[in-house]
Amino acid sequence: MSDGQTASPSSGTRVAALRARLDAQSGTGPQTSGPARLVRAPGRVNLIGEHTDYNEGLVLPAAIDREFWILFEPWDRPEVVMTSADMDETRSFSFEGLSPETRSKSWIDYVAATAWAMREAGLPIQGFRGAMGSTVPIGSGLSSSAALEMASSWALAVPGAPRPDPAAMAAIAQRAENRYVGVNCGIMDQFASAAGQAGHALLIDCRINKFKATPMPSDLSLVVCDTGSPHRLDASAYNTRRSECELGVELIAEREPGVKALRDVDEAMLARNRDRLPEVVARRCEHVVQEDGRVMATVAALRDGDLDALGRLFAASHASLRDLYEVSSAELDAMVEIAVSVPGVVASRMTGAGFGGCTVNLVKLGAEVALQDAVMAQYEKRTGLTPRVFIVATVDGAGEVELDA
Ligand code: GLA
Repeated sequence: MSDGQTASPSSGTRVAALRARLDAQSGTGPQTSGPARLVRAPGRVNLIGEHTDYNEGLVLPAAIDREFWILFEPWDRPEVVMTSADMDETRSFSFEGLSPETRSKSWIDYVAATAWAMREAGLPIQGFRGAMGSTVPIGSGLSSSAALEMASSWALAVPGAPRPDPAAMAAIAQRAENRYVGVNCGIMDQFASAAGQAGHALLIDCRINKFKATPMPSDLSLVVCDTGSPHRLDASAYNTRRSECELGVELIAEREPGVKALRDVDEAMLARNRDRLPEVVARRCEHVVQEDGRVMATVAALRDGDLDALGRLFAASHASLRDLYEVSSAELDAMVEIAVSVPGVVASRMTGAGFGGCTVNLVKLGAEVALQDAVMAQYEKRTGLTPRVFIVATVDGAGEVELDA
């Protein structure tokens, strides 16, 4: 079932480290039924289209070279035993009696959730013992959980069994997160990790779960700035936004038959129904309704190399998330302000759920270091927090990596 991905130059060291972890597990069970195999899955950064996925709207994420790796040996036992190299911890779960009630509130839940959702979807799964490592910063909003779910989906899959396409696999992993882990996220993160393409962002239509790859301009770098304030996709703030959007749909649909999601609402329709909506709900809807338009305009600006338009669109998205959707933070605002003052920075905005986490920046080739220097010199002074700056590359979605014999 290998999809023939080739290992990156640094993967030799990574594999050796994971193999040492796997060897240290010997004695955890019976013989394994095959040689070790390696799977990987990337994190993602969203260029634009924020809080639109669960409104059946448009998003434009890219899979990035911050990844989860699992080295594993399948066995004939309905159980997974896994060591996390980063947490320095080994955990396990059994397929027997697997249900959201057996959750352990640890990282292994993401693997167990994926096993549960695959089985619910009628896919055969196999047990294994494995070791995992990651370069996706945890809690920074770059979708470490989606990456772990997608890597797990490859390790759990039975070789030779039909595999759902990446969009369908993403929907299964989203269900794992919604129903098992208990986070009510949309499909964007899992989709980007499953279907990413090197050199491209993905324009995903979350109404029909289909995507189109959009080439990234070769004269722009993608730079992610981590505010160092943990993004809190805490159930309450995220879910409140979701229910505000749902209430907006419900109230608009009373007068506008056929409205099933905010995707069906345009600016004129929102304006003529605004009097029916509580003020805060009206603002949430305004963000979502306008953000879809900015996604399409960004795709056009990337295609045309229109750097001014990219700058305006990212700025408008950030302002809307700050003022209308209210998911930015003082730290994210400071990070964007610093970035846009640097010559060569084309566009900057918060990315992901918000409430902390990272900004995404499009930067002219050669200006990356100036951005990094400006962030290092100014951000900590302004916020008291230590930032991190990652120059990232877009990569292919999750898959198996061929190991050297
Ligand atoms: C998180 C969720 C996504 C999406 C973004 C906001 O990353 O997991 O589904 O809703 O927030 O755009």
